[in-house]
Amino acid sequence: MVILSEDDIRHFKREGYLIKRGVLDPDLMARARARLWDGAPPSRKRDDPETWVGPFTPEEENRDGSNARRGYRWNFREPGGEDFMVRLLAKDPSVYGMAEQLLGKGKLIEPERIRGIYCTMPYDVEIPERPPGCHVDAHPFHFGVVGYIDFVPPGGGGFTVWPKSHRSFYYDFYSQHKIEPTGQYDTDRETIGKEWAFADCHGAPGDIVFWHHRIGHTASPNGSRQIRQAVLYDFRKKDLVRTMEEPPCEDMWRDWSDAVREMEE
Ligand SMILES: [Fe+2]
Repeated sequence: MVILSEDDIRHFKREGYLIKRGVLDPDLMARARARLWDGAPPSRKRDDPETWVGPFTPEEENRDGSNARRGYRWNFREPGGEDFMVRLLAKDPSVYGMAEQLLGKGKLIEPERIRGIYCTMPYDVEIPERPPGCHVDAHPFHFGVVGYIDFVPPGGGGFTVWPKSHRSFYYDFYSQHKIEPTGQYDTDRETIGKEWAFADCHGAPGDIVFWHHRIGHTASPNGSRQIRQAVLYDFRKKDLVRTMEEPPCEDMWRDWSDAVREMEE
C-alpha cells in the first residue's frame, strides 16, 4: 500500500498537485494497454510504432464521444465503466486510500466509472517549448487523478500543471465548484499560462498525479515516439451537491480532511 506522508499532503496543499510513483497494478495496466487497441482505426497497429504518429486523418477522426479521435487526441471512454478499469484507478486500494486521506474516510462518492483512456499521439512536427496555455476544468469535483499505464518521457505529452495556480483560480469563480468564472479568470489564465513556471508530470507505468480541481493544467503536445496513455478519474465528496454552489471559502480547504486542513503550508 502506498500512503500519503505529511510532506505529500503539504506539497499537495501548497503546489496544488502531487506525483506518487509506482502505484498502479501491473496486470490491470497491461489489460488496459491491450483494451485500448479495440478502439483503434485499422490503419493504426499496436505492433508498429511507425503508425502511431498523429494527427488522425479526416477518415480516422471520430466524433462519437465514447471513442473520440481528433487531431492528436484520442479519448477512448468506452471501457471507463468496465470493472477492471475502475479497479485499475479509482478503486485501487492505494489510490482510494490516499483519496480518503485528502477528503476524509467514508466521505467519497463511490466510483462507478472512470473517464477512460486518454491518449495523445506522437507529434509529426516539433513541439513548442511552452505548452500553449492552461485551463480549469468545468465539471464539479474535488480533485482529479491521472494514472500512466505506459512510459511518459519528458516532453511526451505528460499532464502539465501550473503549480500554485489553484490558489488564484479558486477565487476566480462565483462558486466553489461550478464553472461560473468572474472577470478575473481570463486575466489570470493569460498571466499564469504565459508567465508562470509549469510542471511537466512525466513518468513511468503506474505513476499517478493528484491535482486540485481549480489548478491550471493542460495535456501537453507529445514530442516522444510513444503514445501518451493515461487513465483519469475525478474524486468527489458526498456533500458536493450541497457545497458546490457556495461561494469560494476564506479557507479554501474547509471541505477537506482534518489532515489537510490542519497541515501548515
Ligand atoms: Fe482539463
